[in-house]
Amino acid sequence: MPALVLLGAQWGDEGKGKATDLLGGSVDYVVRYQGGNNAGHTVVVGDQKYALHLLPSGILSPTCVPVIGNGVVVDPSVLLSELSGLNERGVDTSKLMISGNAHIITPYNVTVDKVTERFLGKRKIGTTGRGIGPTYADKINRVGIRVQDLYDESILTQKVEAALDVKNQILTKLYNRRAIAVSQVVEELLGYAEQIKPYVADTVLVLNQALEQDKVVLFEGGQGTLLDIDHGTYPFVTSSNPTAGGACTGAGVGPTKISRVIGILKAYTTRVGAGPFPTELFDEDGEALRRIGGERGVTTGRDRRCGWFDAVIARYATRVNGLTDFFLTKLDVLTGWEQIPVCVAYEIDGRRVEELPYSQTDFHHAKPVYETLPGWSEDITKAKSFSDLPKNAQNYVKALEEMSGAPISAIGVGPGRDETIEINSFL
Ligand code: GDP
Ligand code: IMO
Ligand code: MG
Repeated sequence: MPALVLLGAQWGDEGKGKATDLLGGSVDYVVRYQGGNNAGHTVVVGDQKYALHLLPSGILSPTCVPVIGNGVVVDPSVLLSELSGLNERGVDTSKLMISGNAHIITPYNVTVDKVTERFLGKRKIGTTGRGIGPTYADKINRVGIRVQDLYDESILTQKVEAALDVKNQILTKLYNRRAIAVSQVVEELLGYAEQIKPYVADTVLVLNQALEQDKVVLFEGGQGTLLDIDHGTYPFVTSSNPTAGGACTGAGVGPTKISRVIGILKAYTTRVGAGPFPTELFDEDGEALRRIGGERGVTTGRDRRCGWFDAVIARYATRVNGLTDFFLTKLDVLTGWEQIPVCVAYEIDGRRVEELPYSQTDFHHAKPVYETLPGWSEDITKAKSFSDLPKNAQNYVKALEEMSGAPISAIGVGPGRDETIEINSFL
């Protein structure tokens, strides 16, 4: 049976948590493959609302095994507090598995993330300040600390020493901060080791064996396509690969195993942090999208920048991820607009451009070319099938599908699990 990837098709916050949770009851494993607690995934079950950062959204489905893959960066203090928060609310987290190869977000990398941003001043990325970038940088520089290192004090000490040799020079000489003591970091990390130990597993082996036994594995992306380090709006990106290929490297599963790639697509567009955003609105429409859509960051509490739907981006997401389906979310938020503009192409220096330009300069100059679609005013939150939607809402969905290059197989009409219209089954 299949491995499915579910990922963000825009700049994150498309509603991946809700979509994952929805499928969680029917799959055997839900796997995070990249990112860390920079993610903020909201899941609403009945009258209960959960905000997950590091844990896979499948953790809320009792039958499903949640997995943190090797490609994820793990802040141990966040992990333990998220687990105990869920336990206090009666959620059983005992099935969780964490790759021994996942990298640890150390306290010094949280510091480096924050001071680097401060140092960048006007050029800052607007990171979440969770230490994500510096931890992936250490991984690539081969001075990272991995989960398995917590179980060998001597190796841990040597590795922390190696990392801090350089970091302390930077912190003290460049950023005018105090040096961090090796012993303090080692002691803190060792303090987490025993609590994390029961979850540590050879997740690559477990997942591949599961697939051989016809189990269903769902890979849950954090962030989104345009935040991808390779395919996003670099340098205004995160430091990992949320795109579909990241699921293979970040979980140790071959591309031949993946049968379906679902792009989560908001019916309009949002972005948190700095960087280009062609359809961004600075008027009352943008304000209304923010208010009605509740567009405030789950992780940092920042207001999200809001704009109209951008079909150029959706087409790009289809291409770089090999999307087989879209899950269109938050259609209900658009109820009440008489006319809804949709960006179908860009104008760059007087030229009409249909596809995302590879050049950063061009993208920064891209102006949206809009087509306007008629809106609807009827409440759609109770719609259970496509035919329950008002004609104009149906036409909006069909138009987006045509422009975006993959079938829309589900539509979100509210934050709750049951506020979803299923068109084609994902399983
Ligand atoms: P994620 O990071 O992709 O998981 O998305 P977030 O949780 O950061 O943001 C999505 C927000 O939209 C959350 O508050 C969800 O509860 C909410 N949401 C998801 N799908 C829908 C939908 O179809 N309609 C409405 N109104 N809200 C939704
Ligand atoms: P979910 O999974 C939206 C953004 C940050 C910043 C950039 C780099 O909830 O969709 P980082 O801390 O990762 O180095 O920050 O990426 N960013 C997100 N934006 N949703 C997210 O996650 C994000 N995770 C990171 O705002 O612009
Ligand atoms: Mg989010």
